[in-house]
Amino acid sequence: MASNRKVMVLPGDGIGVEVMAANLKVIDWLAKHKSLAFDISEDKVGGAAYDAYGTPLRDETLADAVASDAVLFGAVGGPQYDDLDFSLKPERGLLALRKEMDLFANLRPAIVFDALVGASTLKPEIVSGLNIMILRELCGGSYFAEPRGIDALADGTRKGYDTNAYSTGEIQRIGRVAFDLARKRNGSVTSVEKSNVMHSGILWREEMTKLHQAEGTDITLSHMYADNCAMQLVRYPKQFDVIVTDNLFGDLLSDCAAMLTGSLGMLPSASLGAPDPETGLPKAMYEPVHGSAPDIAGQDLANPLAQFLSFAMMLRYSFGQAEEADLVEAAVADALASGKRTGDIMAPDCEQIGTAGMTQAVLDAMDRRAR
Ligand code: IPM
Ligand code: MG
Repeated sequence: MASNRKVMVLPGDGIGVEVMAANLKVIDWLAKHKSLAFDISEDKVGGAAYDAYGTPLRDETLADAVASDAVLFGAVGGPQYDDLDFSLKPERGLLALRKEMDLFANLRPAIVFDALVGASTLKPEIVSGLNIMILRELCGGSYFAEPRGIDALADGTRKGYDTNAYSTGEIQRIGRVAFDLARKRNGSVTSVEKSNVMHSGILWREEMTKLHQAEGTDITLSHMYADNCAMQLVRYPKQFDVIVTDNLFGDLLSDCAAMLTGSLGMLPSASLGAPDPETGLPKAMYEPVHGSAPDIAGQDLANPLAQFLSFAMMLRYSFGQAEEADLVEAAVADALASGKRTGDIMAPDCEQIGTAGMTQAVLDAMDRRAR
């Protein structure tokens, strides 16, 4: 089927490969039943690209990603790459894509499906109905800002360092995304930093406050230290609507939020850039928050749901296909409600199935809903 929606598929390593194969079945279903076609190209990234080409991200792969309307990503990494030079590690492929595509806004929704309330390690009343959005700044801070490196010192020891720098412009652009998200949700933003000890945190708080006064008085802005936020996320997570924070804190807090939902295997993400002046579409990459899970890779054990939910975010944010996004999300909820579980979310009286079984359960639910 011809299509002008160019989607680049990058399965990567470990369970990325099998959850992406599962995702392609969902994509095929939509082509067959909803005439929703994508012009799909596929390439290697991370360890798979290193094995094939000696680099975690080839220039031509990056160029294709930039030229596509959206990138659908699996996961990268594995223990066999642990001893590689830093610049060749699989994660560098992912970080280079984020940086080169300038995907500064990383949306990580943490939503608790009714059927999974019991899968969380927290009490049901704490997590039931939870729906929060963690917005992580993705192109700055300690993962990218200079100077960074490992230097030899005169006494023969070494010094490793990173810089947690943020400029006014970087804070403003992520702040605007946070306010926009809150407008479509419950109208409240919690800005998270460590302004009690970090200069970047002081500026972060000041710029968020100024931006709020200038452009965001229709929403409620509050501030919280990152350590307190980690505690509040497990104490009373429903107090949050949108949490906006820097790259490092966002990485940590989103893993923490994942466990509220029962499993890291349930969390999708969207990484968005500025809207293209011509098309209005943002540069975008969609990926599950879980990693490549090499310990369970290739054994039909991986939970594909975070990948499917990431694809649903792609339908919603890149292509405005809200109806199809709703369908995929509802089918995920149906599959869970039917008692089917992968090992990571297994519960008493449920039926444990693998990646293939869960994929089929979602496809069956889509069939039923399409009738
Ligand atoms: C994430 C991951 C990545 C990160 C790794 C794989 C580089 O933990 O997306 O949260 O640190 O950002
Ligand atoms: Mg992480």
